[in-house]
Amino acid sequence: MNLEILRCTKCHGALINCGDDLKCTECGQQYPQQEGIPNFHGEVFESPQEEMYQFFDASAENYESGEHQSVLYNFYGRLKLPPEAIPELNQYFQDLLLKMILPGERVLDVACGTGLFSRGLLAKASEVYGVDLSWGMLQQAREYSSEMKLVRAGADKLPFQDDSFDLVICFVALHLFDNVGKVLKEMHRVLVEGGVLVGLTYLLTGEWEKEEHIQTYLDPQGIHFFTVDELDELLEKSGFMNYQHQEHQALIFFTAEKD
Ligand SMILES: C[S@@+](CC[C@H](N)C(=O)[O-])C[C@H]1O[C@@H](n2cnc3c(N)ncnc32)[C@H](O)[C@@H]1O
Ligand SMILES: [Zn+2]
Repeated sequence: MNLEILRCTKCHGALINCGDDLKCTECGQQYPQQEGIPNFHGEVFESPQEEMYQFFDASAENYESGEHQSVLYNFYGRLKLPPEAIPELNQYFQDLLLKMILPGERVLDVACGTGLFSRGLLAKASEVYGVDLSWGMLQQAREYSSEMKLVRAGADKLPFQDDSFDLVICFVALHLFDNVGKVLKEMHRVLVEGGVLVGLTYLLTGEWEKEEHIQTYLDPQGIHFFTVDELDELLEKSGFMNYQHQEHQALIFFTAEKD
């Protein structure tokens, strides 16, 4: 772990090693590490979130299977893909990501899950960091790659110094954040000037428009699907520019640059 780019989520002070923990040089806050993964989040969740993380913890082992992925893409993204077509779709996005990195650049994957889209970026990037709140997902990410640098933290309180990353990615997660504006500002803060944010999330368009009950189904789960214009506005408000996007049914792949 490169301690130079980490910071205390309480007071933003620098961190040092202290036995097995990390310790803030300013306020003394200690962050325990488990299997080499520093924990910047306490164990207390708001109750709807608690359920979501239990779900992600439980699905971590099976998360990358074609069967599981096709349920997500087909149900939420309104794609009609059999499990065997999923690797090709994921590879398509992975190739787009690889083209956006110059050799030696540093990448952050926010809500990295098992690292499905980010561990392949190690072929080109100097360092790939992954942040997530689910221990199950982070442990699975560690099993798939010993090289990814993993931290447990909330996307709205990233434990990184300003201007630390050339590329920030956030795949299949933006619609899960109840404070998406705050998360986007955090992503903007940790990017270098001219750095790029790449996202994959769901749209309230395509076939979803035909389903009038959709929001009543999604709201209690804390899920929010975006319109293309809403995403544009959110990104602009958070300091991003040059919003570009591709739509695949109710799935949107987008890029935006730090102003
Ligand atoms: C559907 S998975 C996507 C994982 C990965 N990005 C991918 O595309 O395969 C959503 C992930 O978001 C994480 N997550 C949800 N809310 C989060 C938050 N506020 N901070 C950090 N991670 C979060 C979950 O734990 C889960 O691993
Ligand atoms: Zn501190």
